Amino acid sequence: MRRPGAVRRRAAARRLDGFGESVIREMTRLAARYDAVNLSQGFPDFPAPDEVKEAAVAAIRNDVNQYAVTWGMPEFRRAIADQYAARGWPGIDADAEVTVACGATETITAAILALIDDGDEILVFEPLHESYAPAAMLAGAHVVPVPLRAPEWTFDPDDLARRITPRTRAIIVTNPHNPTGRVFTAGELETIARVCRERDLIALTDEIYEHIVYQGQHRFLARLPGMSDRTVTVSAMSKSYAVTGWRVGWAIASPPLTDAIRKVHDFMTIAAPAPFQAAGVTALRLGADYYDRTREDYRSRRDAALAIFASAGIDTTPPQGAYYLLGDVSPHMRALGVQDSTELVGWLIREARVALVPGAALYLTPGAGRSLVRLAFPKRPETLRMAGERLASAAVALGVPVFAQRQDGAADSTAGHTAADR
Ligand SMILES: Cc1ncc(COP(=O)(O)O)c(C=O)c1O
Repeated sequence: MRRPGAVRRRAAARRLDGFGESVIREMTRLAARYDAVNLSQGFPDFPAPDEVKEAAVAAIRNDVNQYAVTWGMPEFRRAIADQYAARGWPGIDADAEVTVACGATETITAAILALIDDGDEILVFEPLHESYAPAAMLAGAHVVPVPLRAPEWTFDPDDLARRITPRTRAIIVTNPHNPTGRVFTAGELETIARVCRERDLIALTDEIYEHIVYQGQHRFLARLPGMSDRTVTVSAMSKSYAVTGWRVGWAIASPPLTDAIRKVHDFMTIAAPAPFQAAGVTALRLGADYYDRTREDYRSRRDAALAIFASAGIDTTPPQGAYYLLGDVSPHMRALGVQDSTELVGWLIREARVALVPGAALYLTPGAGRSLVRLAFPKRPETLRMAGERLASAAVALGVPVFAQRQDGAADSTAGHTAADR
């Protein structure tokens, strides 16, 4: 019997139908429960640069503690515009074209809510970062996946064109791409730009890994002909300066798009954290040597991660950018007798005490990604070493073939040898 006064209406709004829990954050929770090395969520376990931390401390001591200007502290927006100018994108108007928000996540959600109507469709390359679809759902929009195909993780231009309907309004491009590590070529970006021009689409480009590139070159989609007025370029302090908890990101877009994004951002969060925007001025003004060092540090972490996958018998394509490996665990699943890597990942957390992300969490297409796992490698060498030993032992326990590591960082199959043979 219903208690008198008990709430009768449904607890959650209908727009949350279809919202799951973040699988990646669930893996992080399980990792804590089983004392596993957490290579699921993409956050560094090493410190942020000293000068950036000191700038945040100084800002708080100097009482930079109140709301910042809604769309970002003027000196921080200027530092952002100057840094893009130094990288070949001059003339960004810091007053009219830059909006600072709470991380790339809020920036993207604000942009979608500001620019996409109920019932519109948004193209997204799949596999995809897990926050895009929920952001689209909040706007009442539908995400239409466009497959990136292994092992190169490229897309077929005809496939992209086929998925466009009269309701298609935007495309989300993650470059460098999480989770595949693709850095899109000039040709691929031109294909995307042509589609945007011909079909009058907005491009939302998530460039949060722009400074973490090992192979190829990061290029701004917004700089291609006809794209400046229809592109929202998103980035953040989170990955470039190892401060994912500070929640500072930004959007660069033409004044009409910026006006719309600022309206949503204003009423969603008012402003990003003021002391961390102040520290952002120091961060964005770090010299080229900081980015060179960061890239080379990440290259060694990537090579360590490739060695981990090789000695665990997990086949992968070496990433060109970002800080993830996406690997095929079909042999491990066969050995364990499971159909979906979600079950293998659970087993690895409990038995090997290493947390990865199951591929299904990175796909919207039902059944896709079930033989994949993602490993995040923004970690200290000792963290990676411990995970490597544990995953190699798991491969031995499962009796799967392992790979020898080639000098170029690619895994060279030595199928038939198990970890126990080495
Ligand atoms: C592609 C991509 N975009 C956005 C985010 C989230 O960024 P932020 O922490 O700045 O909200 C992540 C975090 O992993 C990511 O991989």
